[in-house]
Amino acid sequence: MTHPHLLDVQGLNVGFRTKHGLVQALSDATFHVDPGETLVIIGESGSGKTVMAHALMRMLPMNASVSGSVRLSGSELLSCSERDMQRVRGRKMALIPQGAGSALNPVRKVGGLMLEMARARGLKGPEARERLEAVLGELGLAWEAVADRYPHQLSGGMQQRVVNALALVGNPDVVIADEPTHGLDPDLVDTTADQLRKIPERDAALLVITHDLRLAQRLGGRVALIYASYVVELRSSEAFFERPAHPYGRALLGALPERGGVAIPGLPVELTQLPPGCAFASRCTDRMDECSQSVPALLPVNDGAGSARCFLHA
Ligand SMILES: Nc1ncnc2c1ncn2[C@@H]1O[C@H](COP(=O)(O)OP(=O)(O)O)[C@@H](O)[C@H]1O
Ligand code: SF4
Ligand SMILES: [Mg+2]
Repeated sequence: MTHPHLLDVQGLNVGFRTKHGLVQALSDATFHVDPGETLVIIGESGSGKTVMAHALMRMLPMNASVSGSVRLSGSELLSCSERDMQRVRGRKMALIPQGAGSALNPVRKVGGLMLEMARARGLKGPEARERLEAVLGELGLAWEAVADRYPHQLSGGMQQRVVNALALVGNPDVVIADEPTHGLDPDLVDTTADQLRKIPERDAALLVITHDLRLAQRLGGRVALIYASYVVELRSSEAFFERPAHPYGRALLGALPERGGVAIPGLPVELTQLPPGCAFASRCTDRMDECSQSVPALLPVNDGAGSARCFLHA
């Protein structure tokens, strides 16, 4: 028998029932990651990135309907009990949530809060404190510098490191970081990128969600580009940044100031009104007749570096 992938996502769909109709937030997401790999999920605001992270962690609200498959080391997460899922969260798969500061309870001192969360990850007695000190140390922060303070007494960068340490303390196999550099000063972006790169070095799989293309390029690994709920390109980071295969990838990179700064024409589509064909068709300069008729499949690009969801590669 072949070894299962560490995280294997197949045909994952997420819809939200709202009073304005169904919001199709994630459509047919299919990808896998193995130990030591990095997958950077990029896409504009509202494209479904956070929803994907929450679907993997099974943290979606009640109005969500989910289908497809999420396997962690071969075990299906979408159908396991909430009790089993509690053993997965933080211990096997951890999320560094968007907005680090607000993830910390404002009325609790950081040390007490961290110890409680480490114990919830199964670390006992002095081991919890030792492990927290070690993880914080790796992130360049001393326990004494944060333990006796409230979250609001820490700088944004320190708060981010505390949240990162909480994600790492249970030694998870998969770490998902949602917009880890959002709102950080440029020098802290560099430090954060260095810290994130240590995660795959210790053989965990790293999923980073970001709309910062420069951060994505620095992290390397593979890229999953999302447009309007679809993964439209899934390729090695090198290939993506050198020769993006999907017209949206090309347009997104072409909009960078250093690559010409040409804005993408048109407007993003509403997730309540996804078209029957390619979601990018209304903005695509390569559009063909068939593009509006059916949704293209995610198919291999002939350079062997990954796949794209576009009829140009069919
Ligand atoms: N609980 C919810 N109910 C309805 N729509 C939601 C809910 N959560 C997210 N959405 C919608 O799903 C889409 C994707 O959101 P999100 O994944 O947060 O985007 P981003 O790519 O910026 O992280 C957005 O249109 C958002 O409004
Ligand atoms: S499928 Fe057609 S409309 Fe969509 S990105 Fe490819 S060429 Fe453009
Ligand atoms: Mg988000």
